[in-house]
Amino acid sequence: MKVKHLVTLLDWTADEIRAVLDLAHRMKKDARLGRLSPTLTDKTLALVFEKSSMRTRVSFEVAMAQLGGHSIYLSQSDINLGKREPVKDGARVLSRYVDCIAARVHSHATVEELAAYSTIPVINALSDRVHPCQALADIMTVQERFPAREDVTLAYIGDANNVARSLAIICAKLGFGCRIACPPAYQFDEETLAQIRSRARGAFQLTDSPAEAAAGADVLYADTWVSMGDEAEAQQRKRDFEAYRIDSALLGMASEDAIVMHCLPAYRGNEITDEVIEGPHSVVFDQAENRLHAQRALLQVLLGG
Ligand code: CP
Ligand code: NVA
Repeated sequence: MKVKHLVTLLDWTADEIRAVLDLAHRMKKDARLGRLSPTLTDKTLALVFEKSSMRTRVSFEVAMAQLGGHSIYLSQSDINLGKREPVKDGARVLSRYVDCIAARVHSHATVEELAAYSTIPVINALSDRVHPCQALADIMTVQERFPAREDVTLAYIGDANNVARSLAIICAKLGFGCRIACPPAYQFDEETLAQIRSRARGAFQLTDSPAEAAAGADVLYADTWVSMGDEAEAQQRKRDFEAYRIDSALLGMASEDAIVMHCLPAYRGNEITDEVIEGPHSVVFDQAENRLHAQRALLQVLLGG
């Protein structure tokens, strides 16, 4: 039987994504009532992380513990994957010990190689291309805030990076409107645009105007201007993205009941102002919490049979 991975949501159907989201909502309600089912007893998750993380690492470890299984965190200094031994060897060795790998990697090719050689599910816990686990929690949060609406429009303001790409992909698959406002030099590559446009069930728009993206939008979304791996360009990026900040003026252009989202960590004063992230429209901590529920559901789907 073919192993199901989550390398990118491009590989998942809308029904598969909806199944995880529906389960995540149910599991969140159950958890609130103190009902946690240990369905993954004796299952082990390896967390192979080449980059820093708080939310992703902690939510995966807690999710696994709540499901009755356990996890092993392997930083780059522990296993030095790709240098001490080839990625494909690591994939095959870990497949003999554990039941699932969640990998946070610099190069997307690394998580693709892990998936190609693993006989167990591989979850992309962030690569330079995409951040699918973030997108699942993001849409879960949008569904909580706008439960009866299928015509929600999200406006992402900033760098067309891994977070933006996964957000655009999940919106395209599920039929949400998605607008990305980004300086011309930082926009999606042609391959990504073709992938999104060929799947877009909702309206997709790419613009260099934050005001155009924000106008009447239900969700304003920010991520850092300087992702992990882009540090050498930090000064240039801060200049280039100066006009791509979610502040009160931009929020004023969105819908009256708009929510403000950020995957975190946030750099206040850069991509978002302190006033907006601390203000009444911000749902960033619900969004962070939902990483746990979405990933518990994802692990259940991939490992629970
Ligand atoms: N949003 C997110 O992935 O956070 P971490 O980098 O802390 O995991
Ligand atoms: N775009 C950011 C997301 C961090 C969660 C990065 O890749 O650093």
